[in-house]
Amino acid sequence: MAKILMINGSLNSNGFNQQLLNKIIELIGGLAEVSVLDWKNVPFFVQTEEFPAPDAVASVRQKVQDADVIWFVTPEYNYQIPGGLKNLTDWLSRSLDATNSRGESAIHGKITTVSSASSDGGSHVRPVLEDLLSFIRTQVIKENATGVAIKPANWATGVLEFTDEDIYKLNQHIKTVLTKFA
Ligand SMILES: Cc1cc2nc3c(=O)[nH]c(=O)nc-3n(C[C@H](O)[C@H](O)[C@H](O)COP(=O)(O)O)c2cc1C
Repeated sequence: MAKILMINGSLNSNGFNQQLLNKIIELIGGLAEVSVLDWKNVPFFVQTEEFPAPDAVASVRQKVQDADVIWFVTPEYNYQIPGGLKNLTDWLSRSLDATNSRGESAIHGKITTVSSASSDGGSHVRPVLEDLLSFIRTQVIKENATGVAIKPANWATGVLEFTDEDIYKLNQHIKTVLTKFA
């Protein structure tokens, strides 16, 4: 059974992206082993502090290494990747071998995919993050990747509503990812 590690690009544990992440887990059901990465203690990247890696970095790297799929669910900030998530991917992109800067990273070769809950479904941030994930040598699944728009009424309630079409697309995305393990 595939092991999927979910990463929320937002640290708002009640936010729209957390709700989207929870919905994806609900729709995956028992079809995969799913866990969620806690990355809130990862420090800002400093090149002189890479070896040995800070404990919080070593911990998230191990969880990424243990997974088959890394599924990012992220907000869009100014058409871009949120700063905290970019910092996390910088740590994950680095070689684990102090003697070889081109060596394998924790995320090297992993299957990755991106979803977003943003005003228009993250139409700008998703390709930016997908490009970054390709650049750091992961296998990015773009086919059927999902953006869920935050509907105008959702801003007042804080509750992300899913249309039937949203659910259909999320199921298609999940199917595309799980097909890699059929
Ligand atoms: C600094 C900042 C920049 C933002 N820029 C965008 C943007 O470019 N496009 C967009 O759709 N939403 C933008 N938003 C709105 C976020 O998408 C929205 O706040 C997001 O859904 C929050 O996700 P969360 O509830 O999971 O934290 C921005 C929000 C912030 C705080």
